This record gives sequence, structure tokens and C-alpha cells, in this order.
Amino acid sequence: MAFFLRMAPMAAMAAAAGMVVALPSRAATPEQTTSFQKQVLPIFQEHCSMCHSPGGVGYISVSFDLRSYQSLRSGSAGGVAVIPYHPDRSPLMRVLKDDWHSSDKSALRMPPLGPPLSQEELGVISQWIKEGAKDN
Ligand code: HEC
Repeated sequence: MAFFLRMAPMAAMAAAAGMVVALPSRAATPEQTTSFQKQVLPIFQEHCSMCHSPGGVGYISVSFDLRSYQSLRSGSAGGVAVIPYHPDRSPLMRVLKDDWHSSDKSALRMPPLGPPLSQEELGVISQWIKEGAKDN
């Protein structure tokens, strides 16, 4: 009993600290999951779909369409973009985080011009994949 009385506040503090570190402000609170429609899609609409929709260079060259959940999950000419529960293995995260530079000579980076996505935006997308990349 005494053990639980001592541990409970510590566990609560650890949970609170984890929440602050792991979740950027636009991400879901622990009770909710990250919403594709409300949180992830707006990022693509702002930064990606001008090229990754019919008529855009990213759509024409690799058939990658970022206008909807279905089109994202159907991937591109190069294969799947998202591996649910595994942001670090998902090609989508890898091009966004620019770590293809080290492993791949093609140095694919998205968006190809301008600044990369913010840490906050990357956190939202990564968290959504970690939660299973659901259509929610
Ligand atoms: C200026 C136009 C442009 C913008 C903006 C852009 N892309 Fe791209 N994207 C491309 C082009 C062109 C390619 C193909 C590049 C290549 O294969 O050399 C591509 C390729 C990709 C690929 C690789 C697909 C494959 O299988 O080869 C992914 C994933 C991707 N883009 C995601 C994104 C995301 C996510 C965003 C928004 C953050 C984004 N792109 C913004 C033009 C764009």
C-alpha cells in the first residue's frame, strides 16, 4: 500500500512530462487520437497538394496524390508512402525529415524548394502514423 501511495504521484508526473515532450501543441491530447482530416490533411493542403494533385509536377512524375486519405494510402509510383505504426520506416516521413540525404544519392526532400516542415507539423504527421495512420 505504502508503495502505491509513493508511486502514484510520480507516475502522474512522468505521464505529464511525457505528454509535454511527445506531443506538440497542435497534436491530440492523450484521450484523443490525431485526426487525419483535422490535423494532417491541412498540412498537405498547405505545403504539398499544389504539386501532388492532377496537373502538379509531383503527380505527373510519380503519381503521388496528396488530396485525400485514400490517395495518400494508395502511394506513388515508388510504392507505399506510409507504414502504419512505423513513422521512422515510412517513406513519407523520410522525405520530410530529409534523412534520405545520408542513405540515398537521389537526395529526395519534400517540399523540394523552400523551408522544410516545422517540427510541430512533423510531430503531428509522425504521431498520426504511430497511431496507425487511420482514416479519422
Ligand atoms: C514544388 C512541387 C512539390 C511540392 C511542393 C511537393 N512535392 Fe513531393 N514530389 C515532387 C516531385 C517532382 C517528386 C518526384 C521527385 C523525384 O522522384 O525525383 C515528388 C516526390 C515525392 C515523394 C516520393 C514519391 C516516390 O515514390 O518517389 C513523396 C513521398 C512526396 N513527394 C511527398 C511530398 C510531401 C509530403 C509534400 C509536402 C510537404 C511534397 N511532396 C511537396 C514535387 C513536389
